[in-house]
Amino acid sequence: REELEEKIEKVLIDEESLTKRIKQLASQINEYYKDKNELVIVGILKGSIMFMAELSKNININCTLEFMDVSSYGASTESSGNVKIMKDLDTDITNKEVLLVEDIIDTGRTLEALRRSLEKRGANSVKIVALLDKPERRLIEIKADWVGFKIPNEFVVGFGLDYNQLYRNLPFIGVLKREVYE
Ligand code: PRP
Ligand code: MN
Ligand code: MG
Repeated sequence: REELEEKIEKVLIDEESLTKRIKQLASQINEYYKDKNELVIVGILKGSIMFMAELSKNININCTLEFMDVSSYGASTESSGNVKIMKDLDTDITNKEVLLVEDIIDTGRTLEALRRSLEKRGANSVKIVALLDKPERRLIEIKADWVGFKIPNEFVVGFGLDYNQLYRNLPFIGVLKREVYE
């Protein structure tokens, strides 16, 4: 644990604040979907795993939990324009309400591609909940329906978010020391 946290510059959002904010998001989402059709909650691997788990624990209406994995070609710290579906849904979403669960909106490319793809399949609605939003980095105009925290343009890890696949297991959102990625 010490060796792991040694690479963290500072804690941006601690565990308690995450839990509290996610409960608030869940209650807004419960309210929104209470009179609607079947809800399919779709987590985007791998970044959304912690958020997906914490959020869905607080969803009090019938729903199914599904996962998709997408990858963007190209650079490692930045997503490229092309988004490829690596693992698709294994369920039909025609006439269903779909809620996409993401850890972070950065350029917006991932969510834009996913939203388009799911809308084409005849979903009744496709909504987005993102734990973090980095508006300064946006290249494609996309707005989430629910956002946990707006954050500055810093390299964040933890609570699902990685750098080179590491640090996802941290229970908080932290800023990575520059020396780690420079
Ligand atoms: C990260 C993050 C979002 C996406 C955001 O995922 O988890 O899914 O990039 O970037 P964008 O708004 O610029 O598209 P990544 O592709 O690194 O995969 P991971 O979730 O497995 O870490
Ligand atoms: Mn991701
Ligand atoms: Mg990543």
